[in-house]
Amino acid sequence: MYIGIDLGTSGVKAVLVDGAQEVLATRTEKLEVSRPHPGWSEQNPEDWWQAVLRCFAALREAQPAAFAAVRGIGLSGQQHGAVLLGEGGRMLRPCILWNDLRSGAECAEIERRFPRSREVCANIAMPGFTAPKLLWVARHEPEVFAAVRHVLLPKAWVRFRLTAEMIEDMSDASGTLWLNVGGRRWSDEALAASDLTEAAMPSLCEGTDPAGRVTRALATEWGWEVPPVLAGSAGDNAAGAVGIGAIAPGSAFLSLGTSGVLWVTTDRLRLGTRSAIHAFCHAIPATWHQMGVTLSAAASLAWWARVTGMEEAALLEELPERMERPSEAIFLPYLSGERTPHNDPEIRGGFLGLSQDTSRAALTQAVLEGVAFSFRDALDGLRESGSVLTEADVIGGGSRSARWVRILASVLDLPLHRLKHGERGGAFGAARLARMAVTGEAPADVCGAPERAETVLPDPALRDAYAAVLPRYRALYPAVRGLVAE
Ligand code: XUL
Repeated sequence: MYIGIDLGTSGVKAVLVDGAQEVLATRTEKLEVSRPHPGWSEQNPEDWWQAVLRCFAALREAQPAAFAAVRGIGLSGQQHGAVLLGEGGRMLRPCILWNDLRSGAECAEIERRFPRSREVCANIAMPGFTAPKLLWVARHEPEVFAAVRHVLLPKAWVRFRLTAEMIEDMSDASGTLWLNVGGRRWSDEALAASDLTEAAMPSLCEGTDPAGRVTRALATEWGWEVPPVLAGSAGDNAAGAVGIGAIAPGSAFLSLGTSGVLWVTTDRLRLGTRSAIHAFCHAIPATWHQMGVTLSAAASLAWWARVTGMEEAALLEELPERMERPSEAIFLPYLSGERTPHNDPEIRGGFLGLSQDTSRAALTQAVLEGVAFSFRDALDGLRESGSVLTEADVIGGGSRSARWVRILASVLDLPLHRLKHGERGGAFGAARLARMAVTGEAPADVCGAPERAETVLPDPALRDAYAAVLPRYRALYPAVRGLVAE
């Protein structure tokens, strides 16, 4: 028996999986994001921990015998967040999250201090990444920075709570801007650019490695005679990849979570610095990936639901099953700035093309389409960076909407596969990593492809209509850039 925990932004999700890879129980506990200033995004790690404990309690209640037989735990984590710990692991401040935008100036400073950053760390410095957050803290909260002894990513901190060990896997470490991504080791030069040394870093491992054991005290509390082993685990996108078997070079998927990710697995490090394409280690040894990241995917629909006071499902129900034409409105999904393709923390979203006749449904459609256009930018960025997609699986909460996936297939001009359990996401992948860490089985033997529910092909008429809107969507960014930025 294995537990997979996905530490997401909107909630913690846990699954209990048996030896036949059947999911026996699942639980989601919601999380809130605090935004103390415009563009800031923080969470209190203690809230993650309490949510993890509530998930454990729910799994145990649902399946007491299976829970007692758990041998391994895998973690899938929202990436990039900076958990800052002082002496003795004391929490110094709330975690600054992956979609926090405050550190734009520090990105430029990092690349000035370490000109080979893009080559060694394989990525453009972007405010979502961890290093610029530390530089921001050094400048704006010097007393906090002076007290920092350890920097952990969110899921590494959860591991620390479970095992009392500080260990990080390669896939998540890739999002710090302190990793030599090709060499799979910390880079002293990159750390020095943030006024840090390796002493503040957790030790590194592969996602499939065993990486700590639940402490005796916790094991006793939860009724585990043999304390379960933790897997090296993964950042949430890599865990999602493991969950759907996207481990062979060329495998691709689109993740419609709070953020949106278009992912391709690669057999070696392939730099993708054009259009802010990310290049990270995979959670599988000797494997890497490229991805485009749009910061507000399902988050755009969630925002629109808040604004309208409607449930997301009810908003989607107002749309026809199959769109006949693009909405008259265009939506820019830059609610949290954007990474791919603009790497611009200051840009903001907007609607264009409204008339007296524009309905709520037309605006909902525009929101779904705007996110799809942003994925199209990621698709073209990946293509420019050497990864040409011919099809993709779709995972994440947003994949439940057939309407949205149909729009995406036509905007991307790609066949998209909806999966039977596409919303399982990183938690299931984390459980697979736990299994590999415990049994030592080969990734190819554990990471089978999931059952597909439906393949959605582009609709030729809609594809052509969206192709006509795309240049207008793309013209909007440079046009509004100077108007919305301070
Ligand atoms: C990836 C990224 C997001 C978060 C979401 O670079 O920032 O996908 O991992 O949890």
